[in-house]
Amino acid sequence: MSRVSCPLLSSRITTADSASALIRPGDNVGFSGFTGAGYPKAVPEALALRMEAAHERGDDFAINLWTGASTAPDADGRLARAHGISSRLPYNSDPTLRRLINAGEVAYLDEHLSHSAQRMWFGFYGQLDVAVVEVTAALPDGLLIPSTSVGNNKTWLDQADRVILEVNSWQPRELEGFHDIYYGTALPPHRRPIQLTEPMERIGEPYLRVDPAKVVAVVETHHPDRNSAFSAPDTTSEAIADHVLDFVRHEVAAGRMPPGLLPLQSGVGNVANAVLAGLDGSEFTGLTAFTEVIQDAMLDLLDSGTLAAASATSFGLSDRGARHFMDNIDAYKGKIVLRSEEISNHPELVRRLGVIAMNGMIEADVYGNVNSTHVMGSAVMNGIGGSGDFTRNSFLNFFLSPSTAKNGTISTIVPMVSHVDHTEHDVQVIVTEHGLADLRGLSPTARSAVVIDRCADPRFRDRLHDYCARAWSARPDQRHTPHLLGEALSWHQRYLDTGSM
Ligand code: COA
Repeated sequence: MSRVSCPLLSSRITTADSASALIRPGDNVGFSGFTGAGYPKAVPEALALRMEAAHERGDDFAINLWTGASTAPDADGRLARAHGISSRLPYNSDPTLRRLINAGEVAYLDEHLSHSAQRMWFGFYGQLDVAVVEVTAALPDGLLIPSTSVGNNKTWLDQADRVILEVNSWQPRELEGFHDIYYGTALPPHRRPIQLTEPMERIGEPYLRVDPAKVVAVVETHHPDRNSAFSAPDTTSEAIADHVLDFVRHEVAAGRMPPGLLPLQSGVGNVANAVLAGLDGSEFTGLTAFTEVIQDAMLDLLDSGTLAAASATSFGLSDRGARHFMDNIDAYKGKIVLRSEEISNHPELVRRLGVIAMNGMIEADVYGNVNSTHVMGSAVMNGIGGSGDFTRNSFLNFFLSPSTAKNGTISTIVPMVSHVDHTEHDVQVIVTEHGLADLRGLSPTARSAVVIDRCADPRFRDRLHDYCARAWSARPDQRHTPHLLGEALSWHQRYLDTGSM
């Protein structure tokens, strides 16, 4: 049975091929999608075929693509393979697109996720020509039941000149009621406080609105999300999780945090998943999350009662996690709420709620600056995502990483990061499998000692200490954050030249 019950929207049902014909070369196009959940499944393939046909005729056909965050190989990846993306924002993790970005073919605007919607509203990006948004169903009155991610969908639907809806019957119809879409945002100087004071508080509506007159096509699909498997926690990620847990216990014992902790934010990836898994079976119960993505480990925590409830903007599940969620969807009602990313990542809310932020990193330097995005200073990995939104505004933030990368050949603790995403003014705790460096209240030189001794791989510690000692001695009038600039940067160059430090 069709999930499109609105007569006006029913009259717009068409094929993906016809819908894709409504997207023109040079258009600014807003896709739904966040970490492989809720992205459009049919129009990107049809659009890529059109692009390839245009290229064969010798015509240009590329678009500027805006999303919630990452999508999937059959969206970002497919358009990248068709050489159909001129520019892209605000986050990408697709390897094919990453290659084109790093080759200079695609212009990439790597932005804080909380900024992407408001900058669109401010008019900084120009007009959005088309929105292509996956939803679960269209109700008789034209309201839309959102899909497994919300991301920037509200903004895309409001701002686009033309809207293409994909109504995906693979998504459980029971998703109705999981969402809270806030329509109270205004532009400065008319902004008012966002009245959310608990992670699960509802301040909006369960539905997305769209002006039916703008809907130029509705495409019915039945297609799964792109679910990625998590690797089982290994000794490294378990050690990182243990350090975080011990530290949190210490903070509770010191009276700096309530026994039920504060709302948790956890970044994407295996280490973050392992830290959450480490909470299961611990003494903590009834916790909450105010985060971006609900990963498998969060479902497990909700099942065990370790977590009472979670607010996010998207799911980011494995196949196992997605099946488990669908089979038990009623049990999660009232325990999970999905919001727009401008709300899930909002600095005002992250700070008010006192979020505990835990994110991965590429590297940290001895003074506490963190690089989350660039390998060797030049090649982007994924993007900053929400890590900046949460880190700067958190009650307490952690950056987590193995102490080495590339089979132990490169230290993730370096004299000077090759690219700065999170500055020493924001970063509080750095954790590797070897230990945890609590940087709160420490001067730069005091920080360097704990970062090296607690976090660096023992094979790199002497070299890092030697660097700091020589930097200290070099200029007696420059000892606040002592550096030997040429040498600090050659740390990375040596890796490039020799493949090892
Ligand atoms: N030098 C060179 N390469 C490095 C590196 C370093 N210091 N540290 C990591 N890498 C490489 C790894 O080798 C791996 O490459 P590969 O895929 O070719 O093997 C890749 O970076 C990813 O590293 P991995 O160890 O698998 O870590 P991860 O999956 O935990 O991801 C980040 C780490 C930093 C890439 C990831 O957390 C990220 O994209 N963060 C930014 C966005 C973010 O924080 N989002 C959450 C906010 S809610």
